[in-house]
Amino acid sequence: MAVPRIPSRRSAVEPFHVMTVLAAAARRQETHGDVIMLCAGQPSTPAPGPVLAAAHHALDTEILGYTEALGIRPLREAIAGYHRRRDGIAVTGDDVVVTTGSSGGFTVLFLAAFDAGDTVVMARPGYPAYRNTLQALGCRVHEIDCGADTRYQPTVAQLEEVTATLGHAPAGLIVASPANPTGTIIDADELAALARWCEEHGTLLVSDEIYHGVTYGRECASAWQTSREAVVMGSVSKYFSMTGWRIGWMLLPEYLRDPVDRLSGNLTICPPADAQFAAVAAFTDESAAELDAHVERYARNRELMVRRLAEMGVADIAPPDGAFYVYADVGRWTDDSVAWCAEVLQRTGVALTPGVDFDTARGRQTVRLSFAGDTAQIAEALDRLEAVLADGVAG
Ligand SMILES: Cc1ncc(COP(=O)(O)O)c(C=O)c1O
Repeated sequence: MAVPRIPSRRSAVEPFHVMTVLAAAARRQETHGDVIMLCAGQPSTPAPGPVLAAAHHALDTEILGYTEALGIRPLREAIAGYHRRRDGIAVTGDDVVVTTGSSGGFTVLFLAAFDAGDTVVMARPGYPAYRNTLQALGCRVHEIDCGADTRYQPTVAQLEEVTATLGHAPAGLIVASPANPTGTIIDADELAALARWCEEHGTLLVSDEIYHGVTYGRECASAWQTSREAVVMGSVSKYFSMTGWRIGWMLLPEYLRDPVDRLSGNLTICPPADAQFAAVAAFTDESAAELDAHVERYARNRELMVRRLAEMGVADIAPPDGAFYVYADVGRWTDDSVAWCAEVLQRTGVALTPGVDFDTARGRQTVRLSFAGDTAQIAEALDRLEAVLADGVAG
């Protein structure tokens, strides 16, 4: 008799529940052709013109073989220049490591910085891939419940509490500002306090800054303005409108550079060469002009969505300081956000992300709506939602 084959225990991570919505949306699109996606966490625009031109040029002129594991020099220098301009910090190309999306960066960083059994702290609600990747690597994840009182962001007081509970400081803390799903920004003072606390306690601060540039009037600080012991995560996916190009980066403290180099070379050899050559052009003034116009559109969409949702009685939302999401409490209508999103889709053709993807404790009463898309489409989606909410959605 054949020995039963089973996958590893470490692979048993939570699925993305939005995948169920996406599959149902694809079926509905086939039958009705009316789906509006408010569930995607990505811009609806292509890469900026200079990047497209650089990609064509690279295809015509470069061999596009493997590159250095840490990324091509011109890209590392371009990213360093971007941080010098954006954050006013002294960053050189040596501080920058290019990764295969920030997602690839997180995996290699967690491997380089944490051992199996180490405890890493993150906010709940939060981006689920941190939790799932850490768990797959054998780390313990300690989620801190963060609410409106702290802008859904962790605080030093909460870290003190976690430390008292654990009996030692955690190995790592991950913060995202602006955050996904809430869009909230950590105040500069609070981020600085977290960075100092982490330095004093030997906790690695991982500051996910991939939504920097997509903000609505509120200042966004960088962890490296306070502590170069922290790791800053960046990506061309959000502000730069290049999700599928799979280029991210890290600003790394010195002691992590060799381990990351060794691990990256083994895990992926290098990030995609064509995308690296093209991405150099993302950090030019010409690209910035195009990308800032997208942010102006997100700002209009945000205003429209927040206003219209409030009119429909969906007023309990996290303050969307940045990113392109509204994270809303729909507890008035449901305590099963997965079923509720399925019903909204079935009745309106509007696809939303259920909160359970981001909050295992309270996400059954929340949903995330993306306003990265086209303004007219968002207006249409809101009209449809209004009709169905007025009617009551059972869930
Ligand atoms: C907060 C956050 N971090 C990281 C990522 C991963 O992005 P990428 O791998 O495209 O850089 C995402 C994607 O949605 C995100 O929302």
